[in-house]
Amino acid sequence: MSTSGTQKTPANAAAGQRRPALHIDTANMYTPHVGSEGVSDAELAAIAKNTRQAHQHLLKQASDGLEAEYACLNLPQVMPQLLPEIEQMGHEISRYPDIVLIGIGGSSLGSKAIWHALRGTEIRLHFVENVDPYDLHHLLLRLNPASTAVICISKSGGTIETVAQYLILRGWLSAKLGKGQALKRQWIITDPETGWLRRLAQQENIANLPVPPKVGGRYSVLSPVGLLPLAALGIDIRALLRGAADNAARCTAEDLRLNPALEMAALYFLLDVKKNKRTSIMMPYINRLQLFVDWYCQLWAESLGKKNTDKEPAGTLPVRALGTIDQHSQLQMYLESRYDKVFTFIELAHWEHDLPIPLDAADRETFPYLKEKTLADVMHAEFNATRETITKTGHPNLTIQLPQLDAHALGQLIDLYQRVTLYAGQLYGVNPLDQPAVEEGKKLAVQYLLS
Ligand code: PA5
Repeated sequence: MSTSGTQKTPANAAAGQRRPALHIDTANMYTPHVGSEGVSDAELAAIAKNTRQAHQHLLKQASDGLEAEYACLNLPQVMPQLLPEIEQMGHEISRYPDIVLIGIGGSSLGSKAIWHALRGTEIRLHFVENVDPYDLHHLLLRLNPASTAVICISKSGGTIETVAQYLILRGWLSAKLGKGQALKRQWIITDPETGWLRRLAQQENIANLPVPPKVGGRYSVLSPVGLLPLAALGIDIRALLRGAADNAARCTAEDLRLNPALEMAALYFLLDVKKNKRTSIMMPYINRLQLFVDWYCQLWAESLGKKNTDKEPAGTLPVRALGTIDQHSQLQMYLESRYDKVFTFIELAHWEHDLPIPLDAADRETFPYLKEKTLADVMHAEFNATRETITKTGHPNLTIQLPQLDAHALGQLIDLYQRVTLYAGQLYGVNPLDQPAVEEGKKLAVQYLLS
């Protein structure tokens, strides 16, 4: 068990792929490290039947390719067949200096997270998500319609925010270029059969790709929803899918000591229901993962925050943080306020670019601890110090260390958290795929517009 206190936690026991795997350290989630606020072996053993059932359920729900309920887990196997088409379209889009991606929630957060992690310094991809007239007005002032590609993504093909802004972008392109040229600059990703966008793509012959019907918004980043815009940016989408497949291969065991996703789901679940850890803070020590946390927050909140089969509220509140910035903002509260939090740290083993800190003789006197150090050394020291303090004060925490920040590592992270969420849904007794409250709000917004 990971309670042994070494870095060899169960989460890593099954690791051993050719490409470097994520290092997942769950030791600080257990009682030997954080005392009674952590999970004990006995508590884990008491839900062994539930974790076994959760795993069986996942296997069953993922057993039928794209027809499966958990079809998202099969995308790494199925998508390679579509890759030539996706890459061809991506290549066409890549010729445009500016790319506008219209979509919201699951239709944008995944590609935004990966774009930010791998190409965040390129500002030619513009996300049009919120219906903020000020922002869209200024974006249109900056863009040249002749050199802009517009990708509209909506699984349902009818989400108000997306439709409203697509109509504005379509009108803008047509007014400046004429309908024929405007249509050539549009791409649609939506359900293969139903919805307004699907009908439009057919009627107007707009280039399009399908979202597999069983793949819901927040689980769709490894489908054309994420793959097309990422391919257009030149991101290695094959490595992304390989990373996801490699993580899947690491999570096949029914024994949670050999299945990191199952172990993590059991720990997050037990910390909520047994130790009142109602807030789940994800804190990367990597700027480029800030938007990955947004993707995680949606996945976790929309999948698990609902009433369970006994009509009891389930799920924990996902919260964003960023090291080291939030050490100077939130950390005081983490350390001294209520014991209602669990922490997930993400850190990077290898920084592609690092900066030595130059010191003259006087600086060396003043800052002896910076002698021969780099900025990455400072980041690692800050991370280790924060994690140690959090652990010493008895707050459960786990750490995911990325070998490097690339498409393969992100694919692993995505598959890992999709699995953790699906397992957790089963442990909580909620359907992790639906979002009934959100759907209600969508209908009400239409009523307001009609009134
Ligand atoms: O995860 C989900 O299902 C939602 O967040 C949707 O992605 C979001 O509401 C957008 O829906 P659509 O893709 O149908 O426009």
